[in-house]
Order: sequence, then C-alpha cells, then structure tokens
Amino acid sequence: MRTPFIAGNWKMFTTATECVDLCRALVERIDKVSGVETAVCPPFTHLDRARAALEGSSIGLGAQNMHWEEQGAFTGEVGPRMLTSLVRYVIIGHSERRQFFCETDETCNKKLISALAHNLAPIFCVGETRDEREAGHTNAVLARQVRVGLNGVPWTGDCVIAYEPVWAIGTGLAATGEQANETIGYIRGLVAEIAGASIAERTRIQYGGSVKAENAQEFFGQPEIDGALVGGASLDADSFAAIVRAAAEIRAKA
Ligand code: PGA
Repeated sequence: MRTPFIAGNWKMFTTATECVDLCRALVERIDKVSGVETAVCPPFTHLDRARAALEGSSIGLGAQNMHWEEQGAFTGEVGPRMLTSLVRYVIIGHSERRQFFCETDETCNKKLISALAHNLAPIFCVGETRDEREAGHTNAVLARQVRVGLNGVPWTGDCVIAYEPVWAIGTGLAATGEQANETIGYIRGLVAEIAGASIAERTRIQYGGSVKAENAQEFFGQPEIDGALVGGASLDADSFAAIVRAAAEIRAKA
C-alpha cells in the first residue's frame, strides 16, 4: 500500500521569522502523525532555518524549484548540489513556473533527471488549464506532460507526481474527488506505459488545487489519490494539520 504524502507549497509567502514560527507550530501539531508522510516547501531563503526548526521531527523539507545544472553562470538560479544537504524533496514544473517563468515539458524533464541523479525526490506537477479541459484536451495535455517530462527518467529513486488542474489552483474551485481520482488513474496508466506496471503501482500521485480541511476527506477516500500538494491552506498550521489528520484517519481505516 502506498503511504499518503501531504506536502505544503508555501510559494512566495512568509518572512524568515514567519517560516520558523510556522515550522514550530506544525511540529507541535503533526509531528509523528502515523501512516502519513509530510513535508513543507518554504522559499529558498528560509530553507536553512526551516531545516533547523524541523530537525528531529517527522516533517520533511522541500524546495519549490531547481536548475538542472550542478553549477554555472546562471544568475539567480539554485542548483541541485546546493539543495541535497538541505532538503529531501523538490517541486518540479509547478503550473506557476510553467505559466510565468517559461518552463516547458523539456526543462521539466532535465530537472527531473537531475533531481533524481542527486538523490532528491521530485514532486512533478502536471495539470490542464480550464481552456484545455473545456476543449476536451485534458488527457492529451496530461499525456504530453507526463511522456515528455518523464522521458528517460531513472526510476531508482522516489518520484512523486502531483496532478494539479490549473483551474483549481488558488481558485477555491477544487476538482471533485471522483474527477481527480479518474484523472490520476489515467496518469498512473501513463506511468505504467512508460515505466511498467510495478513502478506505476508504487508511484505516489497527489491531488493539488484548493485542498482544504473541509474537502480533504473527499480526496483521501479515493483509491488512486495518494495525498495532496497544498498551497494556501498550508500557510495556516491548523488547516494543514487538519488535512494531515484527515489523511491519517482514512489511512488507519484502510
Ligand atoms: P492551492 O495551491 O492549494 O492554493 O490551490 C496548490 C498549489 O499550487 O500547489
């Protein structure tokens, strides 16, 4: 059985002090909740402090992006060698990166290969826009993102996928549990085509997009959904803790 994984994407929010306070509040609330893996992904500038604040707890740490090259003349970028001693996870290809920072399926692919080569666990984001969904192109878009993104990726490490329909991110308009379950099942089928059935079976695929304490149960009760990538609600310790507990309760009953 796959262990559900709940990760918080803090985006460009929190000062260093707020980050440490939030980490401590989370340790108080969710440290050692059993049966669920948890992580938070603060901004780069706070990773060191977050690491210290989470030390000794069960809450993992992730970055929100990385460059694929180890090092070089890439002003403003952060490479995998800078991250390996700090974090376990790295979000790759978030839709905001694709939308506002020109990331493509090809750059996601380079980042995924590089992250795994450096023993980082990528959280690879895919998802369709509202226009793509309305035009009936959801599966075609996901197939392209998954096939190009995962092309040649070594399956030796832990590669998590996050299905995040762009229309559901930050809008309060979440997908339904059934919708997300069906689409994640489709993505699992794509992984099986690329990497084989046993890897597809063990690959965790999260849902992301307006997950809150109030709707978390709906997603975690679905057989294909292995947790969530949470944006807005991860910035509030009580909300994030409630989401983690919802996953743990459902897992305990399974
Ligand atoms: P949201 O963001 O939970 O605020 O919709 C999710 C994400 O961007 O990962």
